[in-house]
Amino acid sequence: MKLPYAEPYKTKMVEYIKPSTKKQRKNWIKKAHYNLFNLESDKVFIDLLTDSGTGAMSDKQWAEMMLGDESYAGSRSYLKLKKVVKKITGFKYFLPTHQGRAAENVLFSVLVKEGDIVPGNSHFDTTKGHIEFRKAVACDCTIDEAFDPSVHHPFKGNIDPDKLEDVFKNHPKEKVPMVIITATCNSAGGQPVSLKNIEEISTLCKHYEVPLYFDGARFAENAYFIKIREEKYKDWSIKEIVREMFSHADGMTMSAKKDGLVNMGGFIALNDQDIYKKATVYNIMFEGFLTYGGLNGRDMGALAVGLDEATEFDYLETRVEQVAFLGKQLVDYGVPVIQPFGGHAIFLDANKFVPTIPRDEYRAQALAVELYIAGGIRGVEIGTILADRDPFTHKNRYPDLELVRLAIPRRTYSLNHMRYIAAVIKKIYDSRDKAKRGYQIVDEAPIMRHFTVKLKKLKN
Ligand code: F0G
Repeated sequence: MKLPYAEPYKTKMVEYIKPSTKKQRKNWIKKAHYNLFNLESDKVFIDLLTDSGTGAMSDKQWAEMMLGDESYAGSRSYLKLKKVVKKITGFKYFLPTHQGRAAENVLFSVLVKEGDIVPGNSHFDTTKGHIEFRKAVACDCTIDEAFDPSVHHPFKGNIDPDKLEDVFKNHPKEKVPMVIITATCNSAGGQPVSLKNIEEISTLCKHYEVPLYFDGARFAENAYFIKIREEKYKDWSIKEIVREMFSHADGMTMSAKKDGLVNMGGFIALNDQDIYKKATVYNIMFEGFLTYGGLNGRDMGALAVGLDEATEFDYLETRVEQVAFLGKQLVDYGVPVIQPFGGHAIFLDANKFVPTIPRDEYRAQALAVELYIAGGIRGVEIGTILADRDPFTHKNRYPDLELVRLAIPRRTYSLNHMRYIAAVIKKIYDSRDKAKRGYQIVDEAPIMRHFTVKLKKLKN
């Protein structure tokens, strides 16, 4: 008999979370204008808003915090981190930044100009934001299978080589400063990219002389999927797979708040000396001196340890399998979720869950609010509210999918929490026919309205 997996760690410290009553939550969410971002975290029982910076650090990471060297220049903590980044990624040069979008800001300040086109696999919001802010275009070249929830494909994060080649053929080389592979692909539901695809895309990029970069926020989870889904790599260690992934690229940006296993941090790593030199200027301007980049010495020390821990198989197995455990429970209950399950989150399919709520009444948001009221669980809407209005017509943009993302923080919640979440969702699912009305927007910002939007509940 094959033994089940078990977490390769035990608990040394606990943080209490506060249960509340349905009545209290109804009141709190009303006061928060039915926007989950407006809730105080103490009023949330299980927080699945994001897996970014919300995980638990290990005893070794905390020990490293005490060893933090807070020197402005050349600190020991910086040198430790530099060594680990080199060992894990293989890239020659490294610049610390305070988080992922800061790394994007610095690197894109060097590479991306007005009128450029930056192809990739469903760029994350901040990546797209930093591209569009520079009046360039982010071109989505993800494979078509990624957009069809009924299709099972092991690597829905893959880039379609034909779509990419079309971009290369239709634009002069000078207008395509880079290609970005986001691994795993958050915007496609935490779906991985295969090494076969990475190799293919890299070959294409070399042929057209366009640099290839990774958005590596969840690179370790991606490597885990490669090991278990790509036959050729089944006997490779995660660290070997990671080195192989990055060996096909020119550099990466990193949000260390995910697979760095820290609460704050980021970096850029790359091979080109000239780009590195140019990036140092922006790093100093926006982030801080080259040996701290907006981070404390202790943060860099904790990140050095975190990167090492995040690239161990046993940790990744419990991480990804915990997410899948929740997904499987929901499938067993008949709840519509996006499959295959992502590495960091489960997505509820609100179009199938509550088709009775009109789309212009924000059915995914209605489901997210109901999840909070029913069980104190905070997820996030990835649907019409997030999609914003069309900048020209000012009409709501209706994306194909209306989702509620349940992002699972790393090493934080137990399987009992997963069972609780699944049971709450099943309860809502069983009474879904009663859901008829959703919400109306009463106040919204011109862009990124989801953070601050105010809503009114519509009555039958
Ligand atoms: N790239 C990816 C793929 C991300 O998921 C994120 C953040 C970033 C870049 C930006 O990094 O937050 O450190 O500045 N994703 C978070 C989320 C916010 O909830 O998915 P950051």
